[in-house]
Amino acid sequence: DWTMGAYREIMVEKIREQVGDKKVICALSGGVDSSVAAALIHEAIGDQLTCVFVDHGLLRKNEADEVVGMFRDNMNLQVIHADETELFLGELDGQSDPETKRKIIGKLFIDVFQKYADSIEGAEFLAQGTLYPDVIESVSFSGGPSVTIKSHHNVGGLPEKMGLKLVEPLRELFKDEVRALGRELGLPDSFIGRHPFPGPGLAIRCPGEITREKLEILREADAIYIDQIRKHGLYDEIWQAFVAILPVRTVGVMGDGRTYDYACALRAVTSVDGMTADYYPFSHEFLGETATRIINEVKGINRCTYDITSKPPGTIEWE
Ligand code: XMP
Repeated sequence: DWTMGAYREIMVEKIREQVGDKKVICALSGGVDSSVAAALIHEAIGDQLTCVFVDHGLLRKNEADEVVGMFRDNMNLQVIHADETELFLGELDGQSDPETKRKIIGKLFIDVFQKYADSIEGAEFLAQGTLYPDVIESVSFSGGPSVTIKSHHNVGGLPEKMGLKLVEPLRELFKDEVRALGRELGLPDSFIGRHPFPGPGLAIRCPGEITREKLEILREADAIYIDQIRKHGLYDEIWQAFVAILPVRTVGVMGDGRTYDYACALRAVTSVDGMTADYYPFSHEFLGETATRIINEVKGINRCTYDITSKPPGTIEWE
């Protein structure tokens, strides 16, 4: 892409000018925005950039290894894999209220990031994958009335608190331009085209109390669901797809025996920006085949439903 090639060169120069010989830290989430920001900044200043991947134990199957592996091994970035599963799951133990869960995760995330950031001597800058729509949204909504549907998890306010200056090389770009820039920087297509994944992770796909058992079940079911979607060539038609494990056990029959296991719900939506969404019209064959696979292959699930709620009135995630 000619335009993105030029943009890349201009931004590399700008980042070098802004940062000089100082150090930059970045919270890598595995999402497209922070990944592209990190890759671009790395190109500009190399090992002056350190990324912190906060692993809250609420990630999908293999997610941490895939993200950390790609950046560390394929792109030669310095990445700290902050495995804080025990801390997060410990604090979440017994909590079932959606907002309480979100707040616990948001606060711990900031604490943990700060702890690792403090360990990087001489860091003066914080990199963020802020896009143009984020810039506009925060301007047009400031001061106006606001209704909080869900407290979103981000590192807003963190730079001031830590005395860091911001590096935001994607501030002028829209999402599709960020993807083009990511390709230009050599990020694999499979990475660029990934569905969004929320900061609080599997916590908000596990209504009610979070247990390690439920998380494990969820990871297995989700991996099969996404595998099915890819096999049928539907991944790129869908904005986001995931499994939610329901806080209820139901009776089933398998072989000669009675089962009493969790029910799950499959969710898949189309959307332009996540603000509104429609459920994806899978064929009955696809749904039947996928439900059969999940129930046969995942120990702990014996019933599968498909969520056909649009947004509004539903939200995309279950919490
Ligand atoms: P909802 O559930 O509000 O989700 O319809 C809209 C989009 O936002 C994602 N989402 C989040 N992303 N931090 C994030 O980074 C969060 O706290 C969060 N909550 C929801 C959700 O996955 C969907 O793409």
